Amino acid sequence: MRMETIETAAARYSRGAMLFHWLIALLIVGNVLGAWFSEDLPKPDRAAIMALHKAVGISVLALTLARIAWRLMHRPPPMIETLKAWETALAKVTHWLFYILMLALPLTGWAFVSAASKGKPVSIFGLFEVPALPVTLNKATAGTFNDLHSTLGWLIVALLGLHVAGALKHQFVDHDGTLRRMIPFLK
Ligand code: HEM
Ligand code: HEM
Repeated sequence: MRMETIETAAARYSRGAMLFHWLIALLIVGNVLGAWFSEDLPKPDRAAIMALHKAVGISVLALTLARIAWRLMHRPPPMIETLKAWETALAKVTHWLFYILMLALPLTGWAFVSAASKGKPVSIFGLFEVPALPVTLNKATAGTFNDLHSTLGWLIVALLGLHVAGALKHQFVDHDGTLRRMIPFLK
């Protein structure tokens, strides 16, 4: 039994998968914290943080598209065999929802800013610009995308809570090596 646990846990995500996972996770957490905690700052400070937020968000969109293409070409390791059927199902649903949110969050943010700014392009770290999305340029559309964007923001935070709780449960309760599959320096 012990041997079997060690063997199944030995199948790890590749370095590329880990790099995508941790880079995108960091950018998303930074973006949520940046948006939430800059709300009451003076206007110029808030604007500077939100300019970063937009560029980071669009980078997450690009990275996620690359990650999905990359994942289609590199099979992830099989799920750990000792997981119960409901655990496998919950993990899979969580992962799929993450991929959907990693696309939908930046897209709704981008659509909101496009409508609110009447079609102004978005600066990416002052290096180059991406054009506004072709959405109806009025207040109502901006409001709809703004609401969607903040609802999805809450959703990804809730999903992250579930995801981290799962990772910690498998690490400290089940001891099945799940966390090790995604952390480069955990052997
Ligand atoms: C916003 C932040 C995060 C996002 C969007 C995210 C997303 C994902 C996704 C999509 C997968 C599935 C990868 C695939 O098979 O294609 C995954 C796997 C994983 N994540 Fe995260 N993650 C985040 C943060 C974290 C954190 C903070 C931890 C650790 C506490 C963590 C631990 C893991 C582990 C251990 C796996 C592998 C699960 C398995 O073996 O089935 N993740 N994550
Ligand atoms: C990783 C992707 C992104 C995440 C996780 C994210 C998350 C968030 C969160 C949590 C908020 C706070 C919402 C609230 O008021 O409760 C927010 C606000 C905002 N986001 Fe994003 N966002 C992302 C991408 C983008 C992109 C790509 C843009 C635009 C190009 C954008 C533009 C905005 C703007 C302008 C606000 C402020 C809304 C307001 O002041 O009412 N976001 N975002």
